Amino acid sequence: MPLLDIQKLTAGYNDVVIVDQVDARVNAGDLVVVVGPNGSGKSTLVKGLLGLARQFSGKTYFDQQDITRLEPWQAVKVGIGYVPQTNNVFTNLMVSENLEMGAFCRMDKKAIKSDMDEIYEQFPELARRKKARAETLSGGERQLLAIARSMMSRPRMLFLDEPLAFLSPKASALVMNRLLEIQAAGTSMLMIEQNTKIALQNATYAYVLNEGRCVMEGKGPELWEDKSLRQRFLGLDKEEVVTDRN
Ligand SMILES: Nc1ncnc2c1ncn2[C@@H]1O[C@H](COP(=O)(O)OP(=O)(O)OP(=O)(O)O)[C@@H](O)[C@H]1O
Ligand SMILES: [Mg+2]
Repeated sequence: MPLLDIQKLTAGYNDVVIVDQVDARVNAGDLVVVVGPNGSGKSTLVKGLLGLARQFSGKTYFDQQDITRLEPWQAVKVGIGYVPQTNNVFTNLMVSENLEMGAFCRMDKKAIKSDMDEIYEQFPELARRKKARAETLSGGERQLLAIARSMMSRPRMLFLDEPLAFLSPKASALVMNRLLEIQAAGTSMLMIEQNTKIALQNATYAYVLNEGRCVMEGKGPELWEDKSLRQRFLGLDKEEVVTDRN
């Protein structure tokens, strides 16, 4: 039984269908990646699941519970943490306050404190900047804060929308490694990413969206090795593809 089971999700905005009958699954413990060109509907897929975009049809189950009509505020309650593509930290709040916000629906003060300590151990970059306003963080530190904040709700699964966007290769590697540590500790992930190489190489399983439809799926590293996929849907390394044929 998959932990997250998306069945024929059709979603969009107003009367416009953007994501068309997409099936996807995430097994417990997996890191599942969704890749695809700009505007292919990746963010809309996740927003549809969270009640942030309009769902026209389809069913979604989380741990066998029907979450098809989830409201945005219910996600944390069912065990899903969301790291949006933009505005994912409170820039005018301190690092520590951002983390506290991540635990907003919890009452267990002691456990929150011990989770905070654990987060600071796991994220030394944040521990050094506890009292800094989030707007003063580097791009990579901000993504780490957004991820750490979402972990403060103790999610069983994270939805991540392009956590590596606009990061240097070094910062991307740092953030990716931190995500892999979180995965290894038992949190499953559905991650949208445009940094196709690093995402597919680390994905247990991956889906390729194109114009709102799932056009390909498979094990991450296998998809990455598929040069026709890279050329057809991701517009990547055309030269490399040509070279490889020689
Ligand atoms: N709030 C909205 N209202 C109407 N249309 C929207 C809205 N948000 C996105 N769209 C449209 O939906 C389509 C898919 O957008 P979406 O953000 O899901 O793509 P994406 O794959 O996440 O792209 P990117 O890689 O650039 O983040 C686009 O044509 C976009 O213009
Ligand atoms: Mg997007």
